Amino acid sequence: MEKNFDTMVADFKDYIKRIKQYNDALGIIFWDLRTGAPKKGASDRAEVIGMLSTEMFRLATSDEMAKYIDYFTMSEQNEKLDNIMKVLVNESKREYDKFKKIPEAKYKEYVILTSEAETIWEEAKNTNNFALFSPYLERIVNFNIEFIDIWGYKDNKYNTLLDYYEPGMTVDKLDKIFGELRAKIVPLVASIKASEFQPDDSIFTKDFDVKKQEEFSIYILEKMGYDFEAGRLDESEHPFTIGITPGDVRITTHYYPNLFSSALFSSIHEGGHALYEQNISNNLNGTTLCTGTSMGIHESQSRFWENLVGRSYSFWKCYYQELLSIFPEQFEGIAVEEFYKAINKVEASLIRVEADELTYNLHVMIRYEIEKALINQQIKVADLPEIWNKKMEEYLGVVPPNDAKGVLQDVHWSGGSFGYFPSYTLGNIYSAQFCNAIRKEMPDFDEMIGRGEMLKIKEWLSEKIHKYGKLLTPAEILMDVTGEEINPEYLVEYLESKYKAIYNLK
Ligand code: CO
Repeated sequence: MEKNFDTMVADFKDYIKRIKQYNDALGIIFWDLRTGAPKKGASDRAEVIGMLSTEMFRLATSDEMAKYIDYFTMSEQNEKLDNIMKVLVNESKREYDKFKKIPEAKYKEYVILTSEAETIWEEAKNTNNFALFSPYLERIVNFNIEFIDIWGYKDNKYNTLLDYYEPGMTVDKLDKIFGELRAKIVPLVASIKASEFQPDDSIFTKDFDVKKQEEFSIYILEKMGYDFEAGRLDESEHPFTIGITPGDVRITTHYYPNLFSSALFSSIHEGGHALYEQNISNNLNGTTLCTGTSMGIHESQSRFWENLVGRSYSFWKCYYQELLSIFPEQFEGIAVEEFYKAINKVEASLIRVEADELTYNLHVMIRYEIEKALINQQIKVADLPEIWNKKMEEYLGVVPPNDAKGVLQDVHWSGGSFGYFPSYTLGNIYSAQFCNAIRKEMPDFDEMIGRGEMLKIKEWLSEKIHKYGKLLTPAEILMDVTGEEINPEYLVEYLESKYKAIYNLK
């Protein structure tokens, strides 16, 4: 007997919920692996990841799923669907089409490979041994190329990967946006380098008790509105956020006893990601739409808090006293103006995650160009250390002394995340556009931060962006909030006015 429409809707939602629950379980395992799971258990755990991913893959590509998709895409049924169901069906179809094409055994092999590769990468980085990681990376690249050939691509193989993280983004568009940005940032960095004034950031390299650093991170996160009853802060090699459900969004940071600024700004950054995940509307919970709409929009939230708020003068006018009470000796005699300039010091450096907000974009461009060339088979994995060092010299004028501080520094490639890096700079661009929109509605934005009214800003972001989860596309959100398409001019304006003031430039 044919099921009626309402039963089909209810059954489909249950089915989607099962997929989401496998994803939740995987999220917790990944979190555990990175926050202190015993090393000797890693390969057994990789098998569990393989099993759960395979089950998830089966559900997303089953005949049952095909039946639901067929049923709900028929115009007669489709017209009756509410908006959430419509988007959910489209999203499920996108995943179905994407994964149905890849043979199950191959997918499983890939998942196990990337899980192992992450552990190997960590060892390779710690022992400065690219040769250890190289064969894994080569297999991961080859898998990706194979997948792109299966999925198909338009104009450039790399477009398929870009579209995965940022729907609608292409190499053509990105080359143009990055080109415009590069043309403004490179001369600005040069005039900063030539400036007579240089902030003194040696104040951050004293002894900073790790427990106290954690205390201050928690203090700021609470002020931002991060809900500790729906999250927690731990330590990992590479800071990250994992949103299981809005009620369980975990963040990590990495403490350096002799470098104060690193852990704090990582905490604020991950806190920005976490606010997004914690404030997705309840009616998306239990669906695959209950996550950020794209990596670029996600990154816009973390960058917004880390840079436009956390590195602003107003922010420190408000919170510097609290910091002084936690580290009175370390910051003795240092005025807030001096502190503000020190956290905004611009200097070409080796490590992306430690880079200032200006040169950061150049680090991203290097990775983008390398990925584009790898995926289009224009360069070889074995040559990466040399290519990396050359590009560092060309873009930033610095050469890594070893691969640990060079090509091995980032976790992303070990997980097969090609096409992800551009999201960081897209996030910077979006964040400046969003900030411009907030300032139109709240002209006293700076004063509000100065008064510690960050919750109002969080609420604005939640209302305009967070609550929609994946219900709207990145382009729709950007258009709804700012009335414009992606436009790097706002980021350029923000960077120029901020850094010209700090460095006394004309
Ligand atoms: Co981030």
